[in-house]
Amino acid sequence: MKKETPINAQVVDRKLSENKIDSVGKASIREIKKLVDDIEQETGDQFVRMEMGIPGLPTSEIAINAEIEALKQGVGAIYPDIQGIPPLKREMSRFVKNFMDLEVAPEHCLPTVGSMQGGFAAFMTTTRMHKKQDTVLFIDPGFPVQKMQCQVLQIPFESFDVYNYRGDKLREKLESYLSKGNISTITYSNPNNPSWICFTEKELQIIGELANKYDVVVVEDLAYFAMDFRKELSQPGQPPYQATVGKYTDNYILLISSSKSFSYAGQRVGMFIISNSLFTKECHDLKRFYASPFFGHCMLFGTIYPLSAGTAHSPQHGLAAMLKAVNDGQYDFVDAVKEYGEKAKIMKKLFTDNGFQIVYDKDEDQPIADGFYFTISYPGLSGEELIHKLVYYGISAISLMVTGSDRTEGLRACVSLVKRSQFPDLEYRLKKFHQHQG
Ligand SMILES: Cc1ncc(COP(=O)(O)O)c(C=O)c1O
Repeated sequence: MKKETPINAQVVDRKLSENKIDSVGKASIREIKKLVDDIEQETGDQFVRMEMGIPGLPTSEIAINAEIEALKQGVGAIYPDIQGIPPLKREMSRFVKNFMDLEVAPEHCLPTVGSMQGGFAAFMTTTRMHKKQDTVLFIDPGFPVQKMQCQVLQIPFESFDVYNYRGDKLREKLESYLSKGNISTITYSNPNNPSWICFTEKELQIIGELANKYDVVVVEDLAYFAMDFRKELSQPGQPPYQATVGKYTDNYILLISSSKSFSYAGQRVGMFIISNSLFTKECHDLKRFYASPFFGHCMLFGTIYPLSAGTAHSPQHGLAAMLKAVNDGQYDFVDAVKEYGEKAKIMKKLFTDNGFQIVYDKDEDQPIADGFYFTISYPGLSGEELIHKLVYYGISAISLMVTGSDRTEGLRACVSLVKRSQFPDLEYRLKKFHQHQG
């Protein structure tokens, strides 16, 4: 006899068939979202939704008021400068000094239409610097859209799952790619989407040293800036700082999204920080595509200009105001998002108490931080089987397979949309799931 699951199994079966999904493990994030929406609507049962990485906290009043004020002043009618408004550039430069201990001139700090545009612009320009170096290397697991960006740009890319190459092992693995001479760009997110691993100082040093040795640009994606809650990263001008490859190489671009750390996803404004020396670097091969051989000039007037002619005006004022408050020590942006880490801690325990394992569980010898995402598996089940089964228990997540991970047993769970009031439901459903596997 079929075991009774928390969500009506007949409805789930019917919705799977109506949505033409044989296996939830093979469906895209958007397909899973639609399936769960349909099941919720028909059953009236609320899922524990962990499939989408959308921020779930309100934006600070500081940014909202600054945007309103800017709009009242008439910025909506005026094209913003491509390089960004001066107060924002100033605050970005202060921000990287205060929270990363890096010196970058305001001139080299640019706003982009989210880090999504930042990645696009970075891949497009860094792969054109040297004729022979045209390939992006992804240290996976990673954010699948960035590979899509390379695909639509016809940029070749290579990748490997870092799971088995932590610590000293990273050097040899990276060199096996870099020594071929075709890599222009190394990219990774830190903290990592989806696994929430954070590179250690040793690993960042290895990446930085090899970037120098092989003259490649590191595009460091800090979409979850300062969200390694194991460290107190919220005090301006005081260590510890957000860990960065910028301590070990000058060949870097930093993508600092405002979406998660500043709960500002809707306004599509991110920080795009080019190191002083990379900005002014001269590469004659750039002239195949641009009017100038200077990297920063090409980036600004040759890539960002034709992409979007800059970043919307009022969100630049909103971000500038928020950064000013943060730099002046008047607004603790890290405290505002700590809730993600606190929820993750509780949720991870609910999973591990019920037979689940955390897949990416360590940064070298240290347990990983609690944050926006975590990864789970259940002994004896593939990721594909697990994700499919969990739907019957009212729990949704995505498979790690779409992220370039070799851990085919794993799923990514995102904490942001799960409310604390759902924890008892989550516990009940996980218990049932665990019992039914026995
Ligand atoms: C690793 C990573 N990079 C970039 C982004 C995109 O950031 P933005 O919203 O600033 O475009 C995200 C958003 O989920 C992300 O997870």
